Formats: sequence, structure tokens, C-alpha cells
Amino acid sequence: MIVKQLKLVNYRNYSDIELNFSDKYNVFYGDNAQGKTNIIESVFFCASGRSHRASRDNELVKIGENNFYIKIEIENGDYDCTIEIGYDRKNKKIKINQNPIRKLADLMGHLKAVFFSPEDLSILKAGPSERRRFIDITLSQLKPVYFYNLQQYYKVLAQRNNLLKKAQGRKDLLDTLDIWNENLATIGSNIILERNKFINTLYHYTMENHEKLTNRHEKLEVRYSPSIKAGEYNDLNDIKKQFHKQLEKLKNSEILSGVTLCGPQRDDLDILLNGNNIKIYGSQGQQRTAVLSMKLATIDVIEKETGKKPILLLDDVMSELDEKRRRYLYENMDNVQTFITTTDRNLVEDSVLANGKIFRVENGTVTED
Ligand SMILES: Nc1ncnc2c1ncn2[C@@H]1O[C@H](COP(=O)(O)OP(=O)(O)OP(=O)(O)O)[C@@H](O)[C@H]1O
Ligand SMILES: [Mg+2]
Repeated sequence: MIVKQLKLVNYRNYSDIELNFSDKYNVFYGDNAQGKTNIIESVFFCASGRSHRASRDNELVKIGENNFYIKIEIENGDYDCTIEIGYDRKNKKIKINQNPIRKLADLMGHLKAVFFSPEDLSILKAGPSERRRFIDITLSQLKPVYFYNLQQYYKVLAQRNNLLKKAQGRKDLLDTLDIWNENLATIGSNIILERNKFINTLYHYTMENHEKLTNRHEKLEVRYSPSIKAGEYNDLNDIKKQFHKQLEKLKNSEILSGVTLCGPQRDDLDILLNGNNIKIYGSQGQQRTAVLSMKLATIDVIEKETGKKPILLLDDVMSELDEKRRRYLYENMDNVQTFITTTDRNLVEDSVLANGKIFRVENGTVTED
């Protein structure tokens, strides 16, 4: 998968730029706060429908302007595609090949991208929601219906929580709880099934990458830790049965607390280094290597599932990696269109610089070297 061209209008600190990319490497260098990350953020936006860092689309509109526009041209073997995203501080309008799409799920999968930045350490260090986000972003690109289910699930969950809260004063409202349970368990089971499948594949590739990165000294395991306990997670009916059972068991506690206490919204990943929780026992360097192994594994999973490599967006990671890990990353960038931001272009290997395009970023302008 290759991004040929990007156009930005009033996006972050860009007024109007158009860039043509190399099929291999694209390096953006410049001082701090010039707009390097903004570029790859906009590319990632086209893959996932959201920014990797902004919580609200409003932040993405150039200060003083009323709307932004992103256009991206993708070449994907026999299937070329144009994605356009416009946002006017109220509505997001997305077109794929000039056709407006009605739901965000329809954007998923057209551009597959893996984003990697030093902040991804939070996958290990922060709470479970960061790990669910990591799973959801990749899985949504792989399976648009997964993203759709996720949206539906969170809608049902919010309504069910609302009911639980209201029912604290009015027990008669609980008559409708069964309907919400059925909805929650049906959609939730699909999410659990897909997460399990995805994490099993991720487990395999993460382990492989990590063994190579550490000369087989360390064993890194990424395991699904679902909130719904079932024997196996590959039988939808069984998961659903267990989901209902757990809801039944927790019914009184849920009414007391006014929130849903089980389901995918409480899933987590167990990340173990040589059998121990990496968050507690891993050194800073070990954690960095682990995130690198996991990120490279997501490239592998996407390739395995779709037969095509995603694009890779590396935000400022070169300065964080030592020589050995950088080498390994370069080896894995082979045949992957890669976008690299850096303040120091000396950190980028000569072979990368020689095989790609180098862009100088300065205060919202981009010039090719
Ligand atoms: N909505 C916006 N409108 C105008 N400018 C913005 C907007 N959002 C961010 N900026 C500007 O964009 C710049 C930051 O861009 P970006 O994060 O891409 O920098 P960078 O080159 O990656 O820097 P660093 O090396 O520090 O990571 C800042 O100057 C910031 O003020
Ligand atoms: Mg940056």
C-alpha cells in the first residue's frame, strides 16, 4: 500500500500544501514545533478517522479558520483510491473516490497505517484503555465491521448504564434490562471473538520480533485478558452464553453501582516479559524494545490478514532507539512505505536518505531537499 500524494488545507499550521511522496521512504526534518508530526497525523487521520493525539477534531482546524480539508491518493496494487476528509467545526464529511460515505466505518480499511511514536510506551505503562485503543485501532482497519460493532456496543453500553442509574430510584425500569443484556451480549461477543483472534496472531509475531531483537534472551508474551471468562474464545455462542451468565451474576452489584461491570469495555492485555508483568518489572529499555516488537508485529498481522503491507508512520522514534534496535527497525522497513519525522537527519541512515525523499519542514512550509 502506497500513499502517492497528500493535500492539506487549513490543517493545523498548514494553509495549503500538496506533497508527492516516495514509494519507499519519506523523511521530514526540522526544528521543534514546525509541523512534522502534523503531516503524519493527517495521514493517520485518513486511516483511522481520528488523530492519534487530539481528542477533538476542532483542534485540527487551523487557528482562525473554519474548516480543514485533507486529500490523499493511495495506490494499492490493482485498487487505487482517493480519500477526502472535510471538517467545518461541526460535521466531518468523508468521500472515497468522490463518493460521500455515510458512516465512519466505511472509511476503515482503505488506508492501513501503523503509527509508532515514543508515546506508545503508554501501551505498557498506562491503564487498560490504552491497550484496548491499541487493539481497536489496528483491528478496525482490518475489519471495518469490527469498528462498526464497537461503536454500536458503546452506544448500547451507555444506554444500559443510563438505565442502571435511573433504576436505582425506580425498580420497575429493570423490566427492560433483559433486552439491553441481549443487545450487549450479542454485539459484545463479536468484539471478544475478533479481539481474541487478533491477539493470538499478534502474540505469535510479537514473540518472533522480540526474540530476534534480544538474541533470544527475552521472551515477550502478549495475551488477551478478557473481562468475560469463557473456556475458549472462538465459539460465538459460548462467549455469548458466558456473557449472559456473568451479567446475571453481577446484576445486584450493577444496580447498586449504576454501571455495567463486565464486557469488552473492561478487557485488557497481559504483557509479560520472561513471565513477569513488564509494566512492573521491565526496565525502560526493555519496555521500549517491547513496544517496538509489538508495533512491528502489527505490520506483520496486517500483511498476513490482507496480503499487503500497511504504511508505517514513525514519529520521532529514531532518537529513542539505540543502534541495534534502529538496525532492526530499518530491516523491517524493507518494502514498507515509511514516513519518518526527526529533528536530526543524521539519525536517519544513509541508505534511507538515498532511497527516498527528504522534506525540510519549517513553520508550516515543506520543501523537498
Ligand atoms: N490548530 C492549529 N492551528 C495552527 N497551528 C497549530 C494548530 N495546532 C498546532 N499548531 C502548531 O503546529 C506546530 C506543532 O506542529 P507539530 O506537532 O507537527 O511539530 P513538530 O515539528 O512535530 O515538532 P516536534 O519536533 O516538537 O515534535 C506548533 O507550532 C503549533 O502551534
Ligand atoms: Mg513532532
